[in-house]
Amino acid sequence: MAGNNKKIEFGDFQTPIELARQICSLLIRYSIEPLSIVEPTCGRGNFVIAALEYFPNVLKILGIDINNEYTEFAQSSIQASSYLCGTEKVNFNNDDFFSIDWEKAFNSLPSPVLVIGNPPWVTNSGLGRIKGNNLPQKLNLQNHRGIEAITGKSNFDISEWMLNRLLECIGHKQAALAMLCKTAVARKVLFAAWKRKQHLNLSEIYHIDTLKYFDANVDACLLFVSTSLTDENYDCQVYENLNDNSPAFTFGYRQGHLVANINSFEKWKHLEGKGRYRWRSGIKHDCAKVMELYRENSRYRNGFNELVELEEEYLFPMLKSSNIANSYIESPSRWMLVPQRISGENTDKIHKSAPKTWQYLERYANLLDKRASSVYNKHPRFSVFGIGEYSFARWKVVISGFYKKLFFKVVGPYEEKPVVLDDTCYFITCRTQQEACFIAELLNSDIAKEFFSAFIFWDEKRPITLDKLKRLDLLKLACELGLEDTLKGFLKQYPEQYDQSLLFSGIVSNT
Ligand SMILES: C[S@@+](CC[C@H](N)C(=O)[O-])C[C@H]1O[C@@H](n2cnc3c(N)ncnc32)[C@H](O)[C@@H]1O
Repeated sequence: MAGNNKKIEFGDFQTPIELARQICSLLIRYSIEPLSIVEPTCGRGNFVIAALEYFPNVLKILGIDINNEYTEFAQSSIQASSYLCGTEKVNFNNDDFFSIDWEKAFNSLPSPVLVIGNPPWVTNSGLGRIKGNNLPQKLNLQNHRGIEAITGKSNFDISEWMLNRLLECIGHKQAALAMLCKTAVARKVLFAAWKRKQHLNLSEIYHIDTLKYFDANVDACLLFVSTSLTDENYDCQVYENLNDNSPAFTFGYRQGHLVANINSFEKWKHLEGKGRYRWRSGIKHDCAKVMELYRENSRYRNGFNELVELEEEYLFPMLKSSNIANSYIESPSRWMLVPQRISGENTDKIHKSAPKTWQYLERYANLLDKRASSVYNKHPRFSVFGIGEYSFARWKVVISGFYKKLFFKVVGPYEEKPVVLDDTCYFITCRTQQEACFIAELLNSDIAKEFFSAFIFWDEKRPITLDKLKRLDLLKLACELGLEDTLKGFLKQYPEQYDQSLLFSGIVSNT
């Protein structure tokens, strides 16, 4: 394997000694006094050297790495550092993290234990690209489906697996763990520990300037956790950098969920409740080059630059996340071909009702038929998803799930047709412009923003999700804002448990 690939497979970003020292000095501020120290993927050993400098009372230090050049290098650096005392306490082992019985290893060490280091920065799909095999045996890449079955996802960080394992194993001991990792990984590891009710008395995250220390642009942090035999604490303080004394915010675990901002959550949790309006996703078609077209005079140009004639019946003006989040355009330039009105609807009839559209779909059938997502299996040909009468409501209040902006926009009809949205957007439907403007006003209020920000982690790929939007009870919010009567006036229109989708009898007739 070429050198660079090897570096990728083993997630090889060595921690500079000054950062390792800074981290050890932070641990001293927390009065950490370990009797044993473990660096489970020690590399060239800078954490081991710093630990020996900062924790002179330690009895034993264990450094492990899969790369024997590194363990040899680490060994000789320690021996060459004549200023270091206690080098005889250090043992370097050339071993594979995944073949070690960690439970047994920790049981043989005197407590308190400190696990310190910087596990590999690589995901299993990154490994897949380079045909690497640095994985626990059960998660072998050859059995890719197996990984998904075990982890529930096709892409996960190797370090997440390592950190979970280490934290599980030190759970019954007096111990602390201080490791560098991606911030998203740190959050997942804490979530897993909190979910299994592991006793942690302290959880802290310190953001790290990865450009400065690793010449890499990654949202990474120091995750510092200390275990307890008795105390439980489900909060994690987040600091902007290693020198900060007061946290920027606190996230945590409440009622089985991760909460992004504990203060906002505590302040506004009484607004959680029933979804008075139902949140929906935009339309999923997975074939933008065929299904999304630009109008040119009376014809339409697709993503293959082909100019086609299509009946108007199945074409709708559309907006995407970027149109919603950035400069919202009153007159959409893109049109979406939507072959169904409701989910599962038979598409054969397009053959008769719109022959040009049918011909067009058939011409691109090779692309449409091989759309990868399993949702297309066993559904009529040319199906789309996230489709229902609600997709064609004339008035909608919309937000983009992708953009880092909490702003809700009112979208009305264009050229007498309802505007449809792509599947990166979420919306609720309204009967009138007046109602949509009122709902947008509620959702854009400072209180609603604070409520939502209690649940949103802005560094996630899709920070805003249906689950988060659904948590807000608009009636409780309206009460808080003194606008209860106005909202009740609108809600009166929806006798069937406020399900607005029941209202739309026709595609464009809902005014
Ligand atoms: C991000 S580097 C960090 C090295 C060291 N912890 C430091 O902070 O400088 C990750 C290290 O993990 C080692 N590594 C990768 N996979 C491993 C495995 N399965 N078992 C043990 N070490 C491994 C790599 O050789 C590399 O030295």
